[in-house]
Order: sequence, then structure tokens, then C-alpha cells
Amino acid sequence: MQEDVLIAPSVLGADFLHLGDEVASIANADFIHCDVMDGTFVPNLSFGPGIISQIASATDVPLDVHLMIDNPDAEAARYAKAGADIVTFHMEAARHAHRTLYAIKDAGARAGVVLNPATPVVSLDSIIEDVDMVLIMSVNPGFGGQKFIETAYRKLRQLQALCFERGVEPLIEIDGGINEANIEQVVAAGANVIVAGSCVFNAPDHGAMVDRLRELGRKGLERRR
Ligand code: DX5
Ligand code: ZN
Repeated sequence: MQEDVLIAPSVLGADFLHLGDEVASIANADFIHCDVMDGTFVPNLSFGPGIISQIASATDVPLDVHLMIDNPDAEAARYAKAGADIVTFHMEAARHAHRTLYAIKDAGARAGVVLNPATPVVSLDSIIEDVDMVLIMSVNPGFGGQKFIETAYRKLRQLQALCFERGVEPLIEIDGGINEANIEQVVAAGANVIVAGSCVFNAPDHGAMVDRLRELGRKGLERRR
């Protein structure tokens, strides 16, 4: 059982002209969430394996790489080799999710899948035993700073129930629109890895916001017991 709340600031919210300083400012985070966008799966472009390996060499914090790309089956293992600790890809984009999960693991990283807001939890039925993480999107992917979609709470509870039924305990991550006002509730609903982009990088002290979110999230853990 995951006993703590893990905070994963998304570098998409960082100032890219000062990326090294921004990464250093979140040294107390549990993961650094790296959003890879290809301009076709989502209507935005970000960065690829070159920047990921630069970030990996600049920090001891493990990297959680979220692939928003059209062809994860061909590309995902490259990100494991670039220094990711966890690589996740979208179920909507994968044609061979099982094969891709094991390609990531064979390349030395943990592997997980992501569900868009319109993709049901039942789509994990045949794969839940094979994943190290499930990421539930609480915004439509592509941009930081969007509003949290409330149906994510129900999906988190459904996912918790599926994991319990199968006797598996993957990390359960939530991504999009998380802030001080809703983190307790997403943790109470089952999330234990919390992505936060604008909330952390718009705060005057990034590291202090990471600690504050963790502390607020822990109240949600208590509500689960
Ligand atoms: C959205 C990305 C998110 C985003 C989160 O496509 O996957 O990780 O950066 O940003 P906030 O926390 O601002 O919604
Ligand atoms: Zn993300």
C-alpha cells in the first residue's frame, strides 16, 4: 500500500529560459513530471528525450515522463533509456499497450498507462496487473493551467475498486488542475501521486508549495482510513 502522498511538479509550468534553476527549486519533490507532446496527439509541442536526459543529469529527483504522443509503441523505450524512472503513455494512442509496457520495463524504467477524461476505467481491465502506475487525466491534455474536470473523482474511486478487486497496488496519479483547494479530495478519492504545474511554478516559493501540497494531501489519506 502506498502510504504517503507523492508530489510531482510538472516542468511544463516552469520558466524554460531558466530550466536548471527551476529544476533545482523543486529538489524536495518526489518526482519531476515531464510532459512530452508531439503536436499531433495533443495540439501542442514541448520537448523530447534530449531535454529529458539533461534534466535527469541535473537532479536526483526521479523523473516521471508523461508521453502525449501518437506512436508510443515505437518511442516509449527511448524515454526509459534517456533517464526516466517511470514512463507513461496514453491508452488512446497505443495499439499494443501490453508490448509497450514490457518494452519500457526491459529498458529499465517503471511503466504505466494514462486515461484521457473521456476514456473509461474499464479499458484497463486486461492490463491492470501489468502496470506500475495509472495516470488519470483531470483535464484534456495539451496545456497547463486548465480547470479540473470533476468526473475524475468518480474515476479515481472506480480505479481504486478495480485494483482492490484484482489485488494490485499500482501508483495512482492525477494530472491537471490540481491546487491547494482540491488536493485533499483527490487523495481521499484514491490518488497518491499528484501532478501540479501552474500551482507550483506560479507560487513565489516553489519548494514551499511542494511541501504545502504534500501536507494538504496527507489530510486526504487520513480520510481514506
Ligand atoms: C497537461 C499536462 C499536465 C500539465 C499540468 O497536458 O499533462 O501535466 O502540465 O498543469 P496544471 O497543473 O497547471 O494543470
Ligand atoms: Zn502531464
